[in-house]
Formats: sequence, structure tokens, C-alpha cells
Amino acid sequence: MRLYPERYIIIILMICLGSCKQSTEKQETVKAVPEWYSNAFIYNLDVETFKDSNGNGTGDFNGLTQKLGYLDTLGVDVIWLAPFQPTPNGDDGYDETDYYGIDKNLGTATDFQNFMAAAKKKGIKVIMDLVLNHTSSGHDWFKMARADTTSKYHSWYVWSDKKPGDADKGLVFPGVQTETWTFDEATKKYYFHRFYDFEPDLNYEEPQVREMAADVLRYWLKKGVDGFRLDAVPFIIDLPKTGSANPKHMFDLLTSMRKTVQSINPNAVLLGEANVTAEENKDFFGTNGNRLQMMFNFYVNQYLFYSLAREDPESLKKALEEFRLKPATSQWAFFLRNHDEVDLARLTKSQRSLVFKKFGPESNMQIYDRGIRRRLAPMLADPALIRMSYSLLFSFPGAPVIRYGEEIGMGDDLTLQERLSVRTPMQWDRSANSGFSTDSITVRPVIGYGDYSFQKVNVADESADKNSLLSFIKNLVEIRKLHPEIGLGEWKILDAGNSNIMAIQYLFKGKQLIAVHNFSKSPQQFSLEEKAVQGADFTELTGGKKQVNIGNGGKIQLNGYGFQWYTAK
Ligand code: NOJ
Repeated sequence: MRLYPERYIIIILMICLGSCKQSTEKQETVKAVPEWYSNAFIYNLDVETFKDSNGNGTGDFNGLTQKLGYLDTLGVDVIWLAPFQPTPNGDDGYDETDYYGIDKNLGTATDFQNFMAAAKKKGIKVIMDLVLNHTSSGHDWFKMARADTTSKYHSWYVWSDKKPGDADKGLVFPGVQTETWTFDEATKKYYFHRFYDFEPDLNYEEPQVREMAADVLRYWLKKGVDGFRLDAVPFIIDLPKTGSANPKHMFDLLTSMRKTVQSINPNAVLLGEANVTAEENKDFFGTNGNRLQMMFNFYVNQYLFYSLAREDPESLKKALEEFRLKPATSQWAFFLRNHDEVDLARLTKSQRSLVFKKFGPESNMQIYDRGIRRRLAPMLADPALIRMSYSLLFSFPGAPVIRYGEEIGMGDDLTLQERLSVRTPMQWDRSANSGFSTDSITVRPVIGYGDYSFQKVNVADESADKNSLLSFIKNLVEIRKLHPEIGLGEWKILDAGNSNIMAIQYLFKGKQLIAVHNFSKSPQQFSLEEKAVQGADFTELTGGKKQVNIGNGGKIQLNGYGFQWYTAK
């Protein structure tokens, strides 16, 4: 009889490889270390459209300061400010002409400092958008770069004598943008722009540009900000000359940015806008979390909308599992809607078509061949589904982020260009121009007609109504704050015995929380694997304070789009 020794060697090798793999995974899933952002509720707003204090039609820092009480009552931990630097506003402020300035339409440096001091007094942290990938073409640096090819600023941007063959690839705004390389008459060269042609990319192979970025980070940290929402991270660190579509990346730049930030404020956070795959994310977080501390989870967002469209959470569960691994001090930032389109580019064509059909069926609702330019409330339309989605968001294993106006269920204005549809002024009350401004002409029109008009959807009315979406969200925020296990605990998706239901369990320091959501519009029953809930007595959190026994194989009923959070006694 032959013993096939080579077969044993292979088996032993496989066992070894299996355990080696396990040990790296163990290293990455090491228990979360609490940081101030681990469970932070982040609120994004644009000063320009939030509150106008001087009646000129544009929101400003003084207006925002007046509204800090509102944000405090809502339970906001962190304000994320959209870009507020000087800008020609071709890309709603993401095209900056001075990294160190404050757009004079939004206020003065003193107004900014007063706002920072007032926020600090209320215990609210402030992070700011920072757009380091590109400047506006109206920035002096770009003007000098074009005017004189021997000027030091010329090498601050990315040039090519000939148009690269793949100039029609890697576009971020297809349909609006046609190329990533544009011919410049003055220099007779092509310059690279990942986004619009008026947003030339900076060249991070140039050490002076790296130093400039470090200087900007230091400058704002010294002004007291608690961190940055770093715009377009994969593009800051890409090398366009290695290809427009799949360029190589300079990850060391993120390590050095983190070091710079830490040298001024060790607690400050870098929250990255990086729409990347599960495979790629570890390079952005860095080994042991030495690069970005936080990243938006775009992947989960896309599969969330797909799952909502299908009334079946399977793909969402899978997406969450795929993004499970992260360093101990890193954290995901989850969101439903942001200031851009719902980006569905990572779905397959048929998955995307389904989401379009369900949530953005008209061509005017779709954008860039990949997304939906609508606010959440009109997209989902059903109040029960809207609430269920928020409950889901606040039960995700990360930090929840919402965009101003979403908490009251604001609508969109599809007559506005591109993504401006979701950037209309905040609706404070029923007075003229929604209490946003006393000027008759506002920076962008206030929504004054239809189901989402300011007469029907506004903060004042919803604050007075305990059944409003705003009251619901306030309550949700309060409940979430009592349960740090969501951002820090070990989580597991439980078998609920029903394909329309998603059940997620958190375990943390002897505490247990289970959140259950029904993705179907019709009532559904669930029952949890007995082992998973260990026969404990549970208390309902979101539907009252009733004690229930969810673990004994009994069936529990949820309404259509119903949900429930339970904690063990
Ligand atoms: C991403 C921002 O979210 C988007 O609004 C902007 O247009 C691009 N980056 C370019 O800065």
C-alpha cells in the first residue's frame, strides 16, 4: 500500500496556511479601541444654505452659530462643514481659490472663530471638508503655472505634452465631463483633472505640494478644528500618468498626512471619502490604523439601497460582512444620503436598474450613468420605510452620518443642475423663504411647492409634533447614545428564519443588543436561533419598554417595514 507522503505534506501545508491566515485576521479584528469618534453622530451641513443671519440671501457662520442650540438638541456630536473657502462656486465650493481663507459671503475670520468657540462650548466637535486633490483653475497657483512654465507652480500641477490615449477614461462626472486631460492654450500642454476641467489636479509627486498640504492641515488644526473630511482621497494619492482608469497610488502620503495631523492634535480625525472595495480599504486605514481613522462606507450604502429595492437584506448582510475587517482604532462612517448622488456604480447593471426603477425611475432623477440625485424622503416615499432606514443606519457597526434637512425629511428640486437638486436651503419654519433668509432672493431657491415645501416640511412644525420624523430621529439618537456596543462591540448577523428580516447582534462588556429590521412592506414574523440569544430576557427599545422573550423559538411579528431594538436584561 502506498502512503502518498506528498499528499500529507500538502494537507499539512494547507492547515498551516489556514492558521496563518486566521492569525492575520485575528490581528485585524482585534477588539475595537474606544475613540471619541467610534460612536459619534456626525451632521453635515453647508454654511451657505443653512441659515442666513444678515438677510443677504446666503447662509453664513453667524447664522450657523444661532442654530447651534438646534443641533445640540438633536444630539449632534460632530458638525462636518462643507467647503467654506473662497471659491468661484463652479462645484459648490469644492473648487477653491485659497486654502487659508473664508469665503466672504459666509462671514469673516472672526465669525468663524466665534462659531468654533460656541460649538466647543456646547461640546460639539467640528470637522471640515478639505479638498486637497485639486484647486480651482482660478487659483493663483494655477494661473502662475499656466503663465510661466518655469515658475515653481508649474510643477504643482500634472501636465503632459501629448494627450494621453486614455484621456476619456476614469471620468468622475460622465455625461458632463468628457475627458480627464484638457488642452491649455497658454502652455500648449494638457493638464490633468479627475473632476471638472476647472478643477486641475495637484501633483503630489512634487515635495512642495506635499508640504503645502501639510501646512494647510496644520493651519486649520491650529484654528481649532477637530479633523477633516478629506475629499476624494483615492485621487489625491493617485499617479495619473500610470493610467487614468486604474492608476497606482502613493499610500505613504496618507501616512505622512496622519503624522502631520497628529503632531498638532493627537485626537484629530481624518475621515476619508474613498469609495473603495473591501480589498482596498486596508491600505486606506493603514496597518494598525496609521492612515485614515475613518472612511465612509460607500459599498454598504449601495447594497443597502439594492436590498431596500428588493425588500431582501441578503446583499446588505454580505456587504457588511465583506467590510468587517478593520484596525482597532479605525471606524466606518455610515450614511443614507449625502450631498452628492446616490452612487450605485459598484452594483451590477441589473442591480442598478432595479434601484433606478424603484427609487429614481425618471431620467431626470438619474445622473452620471450611475446614480440618483434625490433626497431620501421623496426617494423612499413611504414614511414607514424612511423610519426603518434610519433605524437601520443607527444600528450599523460604525458612526452614523446625516446630511442637514434629512432629519425633517426634506425633498429635492430636480429643476436644479446636477447635484444641486439636494442642496436647497434648510427649511426652518413656515415664514417666507422657510426662515432661512429674510431676503427675497436666496442663494438657491427654497422648496416652496409640493409635498416637500417648507410650508409642509420644516423644523418648527416637526419640533412641536411628537410623531414627526424629527422627533423620531431625536429619539433614535438618544437611544443610540445609550448603546456604545454598536460602534465598539463584536457583531454577528443572526439567522432570523425569514429572508425579509435582518437581525444583528452586538456583544460588548457583558451587554447585548439585537436590532431587527423588516425589509418587506408586508408584516413578517421572525424567530432567532436560540443559542445566539442565550435565553436572556430582552427589553424592546424602539417600540416602548416592553419585556419580551425573543429567544425561545417563539415567533415575533413585525409590521411592514417594522423594526425593533432589544437589549438583554
Ligand atoms: C467629492 C465631493 O463630494 C463632490 O461634491 C465634489 O464634486 C468632488 N469630490 C470634487 O471635489
